[in-house]
Amino acid sequence: MTKQLITELKHKSCLEIANLINNQRDIGSINFILENLGQLPKHFEGNFLYDLLKHAHPQVRLNAVKNIGKLNGNLNISKLIELYKTEKDTTVRREIISAIGRQRKPENKSLLFDFLEDEDPKIVCQAIRGLLVFDQDKEVENHLRPLINHPNEMVRTVIYKEYFAKETTAKSTLPHAETYDFLKNIVVNADVRQVLKLVPDESIHLTFTSPPYYNARDYSIYPSYQAYLEFLNEVFRETHRITKEGRFLIVNTSPIIIPRVSRSHSSKRYGIPFDLHPYLVQNGWEFIDDIIWLKPEASVKNRIGGFMQHRKPLGYKPNAVTEYLMVYRKQTEKLLDWNIRSYTYETVEESKVADGYETTNVWKIDPCFDKVHSAIFPVELCKRVIQYYSYKGDLIFDPFGGSGTVGRTAKALDRLFFLTEQEPKYFEYMQLKQKNPTLFKERKTRFLTLEQFKKIAK
Ligand SMILES: C[S@@+](CC[C@H](N)C(=O)[O-])C[C@H]1O[C@@H](n2cnc3c(N)ncnc32)[C@H](O)[C@@H]1O
Repeated sequence: MTKQLITELKHKSCLEIANLINNQRDIGSINFILENLGQLPKHFEGNFLYDLLKHAHPQVRLNAVKNIGKLNGNLNISKLIELYKTEKDTTVRREIISAIGRQRKPENKSLLFDFLEDEDPKIVCQAIRGLLVFDQDKEVENHLRPLINHPNEMVRTVIYKEYFAKETTAKSTLPHAETYDFLKNIVVNADVRQVLKLVPDESIHLTFTSPPYYNARDYSIYPSYQAYLEFLNEVFRETHRITKEGRFLIVNTSPIIIPRVSRSHSSKRYGIPFDLHPYLVQNGWEFIDDIIWLKPEASVKNRIGGFMQHRKPLGYKPNAVTEYLMVYRKQTEKLLDWNIRSYTYETVEESKVADGYETTNVWKIDPCFDKVHSAIFPVELCKRVIQYYSYKGDLIFDPFGGSGTVGRTAKALDRLFFLTEQEPKYFEYMQLKQKNPTLFKERKTRFLTLEQFKKIAK
């Protein structure tokens, strides 16, 4: 049997195809015929397709529904509905709704409204698709709008895009590629939460940061882990507000270990990236990627030593050679192309990433050790993030500036930066580092107290 034979027979008559199918012994051949029927001729009645709806094999039923959906003129909806009521296979059920939707007939609207009640969110989405063809139809809108509260996120997203996205007005009057002068190449020595209150909506293009590691290092003391997460929640909620539509947040964290209080206690591990994630998503950060920063084993603390001696199961503690770069995007209905089109042709060309870029989500980079700050970014890591997630001239924000690696790297890559750092000793260290003439070139960097920043932010 060949595709050509199927084509010839279908143009002769529907009966020829029905007979061909009846003569087949195996399921594979029946499906081959059904899958190669292509467009159906005008006169094709397709009665045999309805008989196949009762076939024991779900793939045959699926192919039968697909072809019924292609029938010109009189499609027997009641037969499809009959099958829908008893069908267990989700793919066949979805195809039934799709076939009915594709008819684009106003008399099918009430059926499609019923499908909106289905438990399978994909069926609901199919029904929505079928209904959205009735443009400007008030009855359709009245049924669809309330689905903004549907339990399924895909359904909510479709409804949001259709009815609500257009109603929200842009929070900023600034063109997407531009920002405020008073934020350009600024470092503020203050608690980031105080500073953020003074920053206008939608003014930064990218945030790359490594937050404090709960109480694992000297510079951070929080009353509890919950208080720590709530602190980060506040910072990243505000960061979301000041981020431009559709732009990225990249958070570098890793699970940490708090040493045991005494020999009769065990040390405690905290999964910071996993615990922070739900807060970010709840605040409108859409999860995009998890990038693994892989370090050489010799550069990390040895935890496997005990196990190497005793080899007893349960006492296995691998050396932690990875950290996460969790990549999020400020939720928007607009595609990335919209962001990219906001830049001039020259900027896009000049910002193109050169050969040698990372092709996987595992980045092998040596960590960086510093005599003053205990947890600084390797420049290599910063470079990659800034090059892959921003354009030249963009404003890069680091709420936890530390020694200022993000600022210096941004500048070297012709981007602008805005940093906050609470600890005076690191703030001073940053100023010391910028004395290096090859760094912090062009637009002068301004190091400000909160009071000084308040004055220029007015
Ligand atoms: C992990 S370090 C960041 C190091 C930085 N990525 C670098 O390359 O040097 C976190 C920094 O956040 C600072 N920090 C902690 N809480 C802060 C707050 N509320 N506001 C501003 N900075 C804070 C700490 O002092 C510390 O320097």
